[in-house]
Amino acid sequence: MSLSKIDAIETETEQIDQEKYLRQATQYYTALEKPLKYGPVIDSLTDLITALHREFDTNYVNIEMVNHIMLSYKSNPKEWRKYAKFDRYKYTRNLVDFGNGRFNLLILCWGEGVSSSVHDHADSHCFMKMLKGDLREKRYKYPHRTEEQLGNIADDQLVETGETPMALNDVAYINDNLGLHRVENPSHADTSVSLHLYCPPFDSCSIFQENCKKTTAKVTFWSKYGVRTKLNEQ
Ligand SMILES: [Fe+2]
Repeated sequence: MSLSKIDAIETETEQIDQEKYLRQATQYYTALEKPLKYGPVIDSLTDLITALHREFDTNYVNIEMVNHIMLSYKSNPKEWRKYAKFDRYKYTRNLVDFGNGRFNLLILCWGEGVSSSVHDHADSHCFMKMLKGDLREKRYKYPHRTEEQLGNIADDQLVETGETPMALNDVAYINDNLGLHRVENPSHADTSVSLHLYCPPFDSCSIFQENCKKTTAKVTFWSKYGVRTKLNEQ
């Protein structure tokens, strides 16, 4: 076997190990309210992106440090305005940074009263930080599945586990072990903007109806790096 092939297999194994480690390490993790005492100083969106690249450049990512970095950034609309592209009727996902394939950094724009469906995060980690306005996050238990039903959902009613209001600069964290969520802009007068980090990136997730019926939804980019994407590039 060629050396390059061995390198490729080792890299793939490292990535699988990293994902496994992250899932286990964060099974019961919820975002902290305060930044850590020691960590990089984040004075701008550029600092934030630089610090995230440094953090994700290793095989083992410190989830508390990622939380710290997201919390430390104080929203400055001048820095993120070019990414914030709205649609009147639905929330938009706007790519800010590809994270060398290890994470995606997105800005989500929420028109007045706009809401997501109840969804999971495709076994990835999701950090969500408020940049403008308010959002309300409703959480639900991940429905049970049974082997007898060949992986079908056994429950027939989503169970709500809590509701959290999010205000400017707040950070929330969720993964599938912690449940599902629905995010909504509670205001019918103001728009909201949030910054999301997904690790590893994913291009589809599951959405759930109140009766636990599950469907797969492809996730798309409304814009990339500040430029509106064409339909075939989403
Ligand atoms: Fe989400």
